[in-house]
Amino acid sequence: MLEQLQSIPADPILGLSAAFKKDTNPNKIDLGVGVYKDESGSTPIMRAVKLATERIQQTETSKTYLPQAGVAEFNTATLELLFGADSALIKDGLVGSVQAPGGCGALRIGAEVINRSQPGTRVWLSNPSWPNHYPLLEGADLKVHEYPYYDHANHAIDFDAMMRALAETGPGDVVLVHGCCHNPSGADLSLEQWQALTDLALQRGFTPFVDAAYQGLAHGLEEDARGWRAMAERVPEMLIASSCSKNFGLYRERAGAIVFLTRDSEQTQIACSQAMNAARQIYSMPPSHGGAIVGTIINDPALKAQWLTELDEMRERINGMRDALVDRLDAAGHTGFQFIRTENGMFSFLGISEQQVQKLRDDYAVYIVDSTRMNIAGLTSSNIDYFADSLIKVLEG
Ligand code: LMR
Repeated sequence: MLEQLQSIPADPILGLSAAFKKDTNPNKIDLGVGVYKDESGSTPIMRAVKLATERIQQTETSKTYLPQAGVAEFNTATLELLFGADSALIKDGLVGSVQAPGGCGALRIGAEVINRSQPGTRVWLSNPSWPNHYPLLEGADLKVHEYPYYDHANHAIDFDAMMRALAETGPGDVVLVHGCCHNPSGADLSLEQWQALTDLALQRGFTPFVDAAYQGLAHGLEEDARGWRAMAERVPEMLIASSCSKNFGLYRERAGAIVFLTRDSEQTQIACSQAMNAARQIYSMPPSHGGAIVGTIINDPALKAQWLTELDEMRERINGMRDALVDRLDAAGHTGFQFIRTENGMFSFLGISEQQVQKLRDDYAVYIVDSTRMNIAGLTSSNIDYFADSLIKVLEG
């Protein structure tokens, strides 16, 4: 039977990491997959995470199964991070969280629950979006539609076009919105735009599904939540897929959660029970370690303060690299990259041609995604000159 299978081409992002590993050029730079690198070029375990891990190792007494919803402290921490510790939505039980294996697991379980409620639901994705959104949602039988988002010519969101397209939605549609640090463009909605989108959700009746994978990496932990918190105050229902891969540096631990908001605490619990049942059919329950780490950090004021300091350092280093890159390009007379300074999080499009992306890879061993998305968080003061010089040569080539 298995001999009938065909091999599948490498994933556009993860496949790039594999190609990078094989490259023998000593100057090679990986600006593909979205992982944070520090000044030494490595992806560190955060100090708060190390300390929490030590504590867990000392106190953990059993490896028996977790409850189906996962680590209770993690789910509480997730809701507090997303909505604020004093949120009335939490107090009133209107929001519920089920731990999932990373942001992908959360998106997929959310999609499964949507499909159980209404088979074949239309889900609207920004164009462009993270490539893995498509298989995650379509794999649960949702029907993906696109709304215009990033205008490559102007290096900015085309909000009018986005709103015009979403005016075609109706009750029973789902609209996926990137919470902050839009992947792949780095261009985020302003608070006013979130409010206008919320007005439209109320008018058209669609359900927002927020992908919150980068909280804290745009402007700050609280600042980054403003858009979806404002939306959550007003819409009758909403889903959020939350991930701790980036802001806790827990990538391989697969720590995420699917969160449901309804206006009736019993209804919220019903949605959570569906999520747990969907998970039971696929992987039973989430892994413990990442959730235990996040729960430990958020419940300990000293560890939380340590984590917040590190998160601020990460964000500031990325923003420093944004300016440093554009300064170098400006100095060489390539002044059309100012948008990189103001975009958020790990990613920006370079907006170069496919051939130039390939040339960067072939001639300079610089790896960015084919869409021209580059991971700014992979730049360091040791590789930025090589990267800027390579890009300038390719631009002038
Ligand atoms: C990315 O966009 O590079 C990350 O979210 C990693 C991934 O799984 O694609």
